[in-house]
Amino acid sequence: MKALREENQRLREELGGRYQIENIIGRSARMQEVFATVLRAAPSRATVLLAGESGVGKDMIARAIHQYSPRRDKPFVKINCTAIPENLMESELFGYEKGAFTGAGTTKPGKFELADTGTVFLDEIGDVAPSIQVKLLRILQEREFERLGSNKTRHIDVRVIAATNVDLRAALEQGTFRQDLYYRLNVLPINIPPLRDRREDIPYLAEFFVKKHAAELDSPVRTLSPGAMEKLAAYHWPGNVRELENVMERSLVLASGSVLEAAEVRLDMSPGRQLLASGEAPFLPPGMTLEEFEHALIREGLRRAAGNKSQAARLLGLTRNALRYRLTQMGVSDPESGG
Ligand SMILES: Nc1ncnc2c1ncn2[C@@H]1O[C@H](COP(=O)(O)OP(=O)(O)OP(=O)(O)O)[C@@H](O)[C@H]1O
Ligand SMILES: [Mg+2]
Repeated sequence: MKALREENQRLREELGGRYQIENIIGRSARMQEVFATVLRAAPSRATVLLAGESGVGKDMIARAIHQYSPRRDKPFVKINCTAIPENLMESELFGYEKGAFTGAGTTKPGKFELADTGTVFLDEIGDVAPSIQVKLLRILQEREFERLGSNKTRHIDVRVIAATNVDLRAALEQGTFRQDLYYRLNVLPINIPPLRDRREDIPYLAEFFVKKHAAELDSPVRTLSPGAMEKLAAYHWPGNVRELENVMERSLVLASGSVLEAAEVRLDMSPGRQLLASGEAPFLPPGMTLEEFEHALIREGLRRAAGNKSQAARLLGLTRNALRYRLTQMGVSDPESGG
């Protein structure tokens, strides 16, 4: 532990007050710590597990690790685990031989094979179905797999980076995520804090986004007024850096002068967000139990997602498996396990 701390200290000195790696801005001590870990993790093949809310920069950090690694000229293959239906996942990941199933007219290598000698980025790992979790465990342990419809074992050299915006430990407790896989993934954990916990970054990010977008949006804005900065610094940023970037883009389009004023900063203040922004602690509606409220939230999530369980799970901050588990507890039957 002490050695690790000294190593991080050394890397921080090496960072030498650099507040940016690649295009990632981070002035806060917590982001400096993240940068130091990125530099420490990059040279090896060690598996990295990125955790953090939506929009904190997990994608960017994953790419930076690849860019700073000896694999930078090799493939970087991103796999979005929620985007692929469970029944197609195995063939996507591991490929298939001609005739392996109806419609398999040709032989096709999977994503892992395409990433050989490079990096695989498993995004939203918390949503991977149990049947696939076993196969991932094998890849991580043995670096081997078979294509669908083939019994030839293939060996590959890949670096794995996984990301999640849900708490995997909760999924572990509910038994929807394998413990052995979790430990294989969690070799080098990097937790990226939400923007509201590193407000020092806000002014630097805001100026960065002005530079990044003013020209392309044909905006006269060159900088922000102190009032505009205060308004940004006081907001709670539920959508994190992605939301800040969107707010800056929207504000740049509508502003008329070279200095962005507070009144021209367009925050997203929909009713639900106002409640959170008001600083008032949220609580149960009168007469409702926590369980009833949870069920109501889950039903509302499903309604907003038009019944699509993956999307509803995202809205609710759950993995698809955790949502399925709760629906079973609620006595809502689950005829199709995809969705
Ligand atoms: N530190 C940063 N500096 C500059 N831009 C950033 C930073 N963090 C995030 N961004 C911007 O915010 C956007 C969202 O970041 P990213 O896609 O990496 O988030 P994420 O954590 O992967 O979110 P999700 O969980 O929704 O996939 C990026 O495309 C980038 O433009
Ligand atoms: Mg992402």
